[in-house]
Amino acid sequence: MPWILIQLIVSPFDQVQYFFDFPHFSACVFKGKLRNLVNSGYRLPTLKTMNPFSELPTPCYVVDTQKLRQNLEIIRSVQDRTGARIILALKGFAMFRVFPIVREYLCGTTASSVNEAKLGSYEFGGEVHAYAPAYSEKDIHQLSPLIKHITFNSFSQFHRFKEQVSNINPQVSMGLRINPEYSEVATELYDPCRPCSRLGMTLQHFEGEALERIEGLHFHTMCEQNSDTLERTLKVVEEKFSPYFEQLKWINFGGGHHITRPDYDVDRLCRALDAFMQKYSLQVYMEPGEAIALNTGILIASVMDVFENDIPLAILDTSATAHMPDVLEMPYRPVIQGAGAPGSKAHTIRLGGLTCLAGDEIGDYAFDQPLKVGDRLVFEDMAHYTMVKNTTFNGVHLPSIATYNPLTQTAEVVREFGYEDYRSRLS
Ligand SMILES: Cc1ncc(COP(=O)(O)O)c(C=O)c1O
Repeated sequence: MPWILIQLIVSPFDQVQYFFDFPHFSACVFKGKLRNLVNSGYRLPTLKTMNPFSELPTPCYVVDTQKLRQNLEIIRSVQDRTGARIILALKGFAMFRVFPIVREYLCGTTASSVNEAKLGSYEFGGEVHAYAPAYSEKDIHQLSPLIKHITFNSFSQFHRFKEQVSNINPQVSMGLRINPEYSEVATELYDPCRPCSRLGMTLQHFEGEALERIEGLHFHTMCEQNSDTLERTLKVVEEKFSPYFEQLKWINFGGGHHITRPDYDVDRLCRALDAFMQKYSLQVYMEPGEAIALNTGILIASVMDVFENDIPLAILDTSATAHMPDVLEMPYRPVIQGAGAPGSKAHTIRLGGLTCLAGDEIGDYAFDQPLKVGDRLVFEDMAHYTMVKNTTFNGVHLPSIATYNPLTQTAEVVREFGYEDYRSRLS
């Protein structure tokens, strides 16, 4: 009988996985399938417990490449079913080490700046689209050779730069951002249709202008939302702007589509896209960022100190403000594996960051055992809007970046940061 090793992996990504190591290949079998095997009478020769992340430095973002593929499969299915083109918004996720994977599924990226356009062009390839609230002459000079589409935020920007763009790159298709004045975003900070918004033109400021050389419209009004929100948004966009559609080639539905969330209604999205494209002969683009990397990454941190001030407090080697700023900006409470709501387990403790910002607190969490120095905590869903937004405030180290492939059980640190990364930004 061949030699077989079965490992029990308590992975931070999934509760339990089992790995079969045959002499010439490894296969990962999830809990249910293993149970079938055991039920069929198979005797497990060896059983070993290990954690593939225990050797990683902390803090460290770890992106699971298989989970990334699972998200991308869903997104590709939408493209295949509808003909909509979906591109990666680099502002949400720009970990170029995994671009070779993303490129298998998506045709391009969208950039909010020259730097993002360069990253999209040099590291991803394919179509690069651009939108920013305003461009400078220098931006246009640098962007134009790299991009396929450019969306202007106002007619004044369009008129100022249309010649320059065409002279540098006649292939660039130009569009305008509209504000349909309809959104369902509860947090004002993230609502592009908030009163007096500077993002896009309302119908009142759009009407009556010549659209010569404009080939597309762009709206971005959603944030972490489902396809029912898109349906209602489209209704308003159509009511207000469809008279202009005939002279256009494309429309960009922006980001904020939570396509890869378990309860996202993909069929409803496909129906909405089909209906729209049957009615208007426009190429539809969507540009999610978060949905690409949703639930694909974790942040592993270590406990540095534990003490009391009326309540138990812990200092971690990470920071809300520097490493997961949306915890404070959104704000939201990140999930920590093995931890619950305050009071739900025996030991409740307030987790704080490493900076001196008084409010650099991640929140109160309950654990089965008291936390102690050196314990590792695993924060879930930390791939998007973290690496792209983090800072070295207080000189804290940026978290290392790693990939994890569950099929080979390998975690690889692809980037570590040090003093030079901090220093190079400062003068
Ligand atoms: C214009 C535009 N497009 C796309 C996105 C990506 O949104 P999300 O990551 O929520 O999908 C954003 C996010 O702010 C945006 O402003």
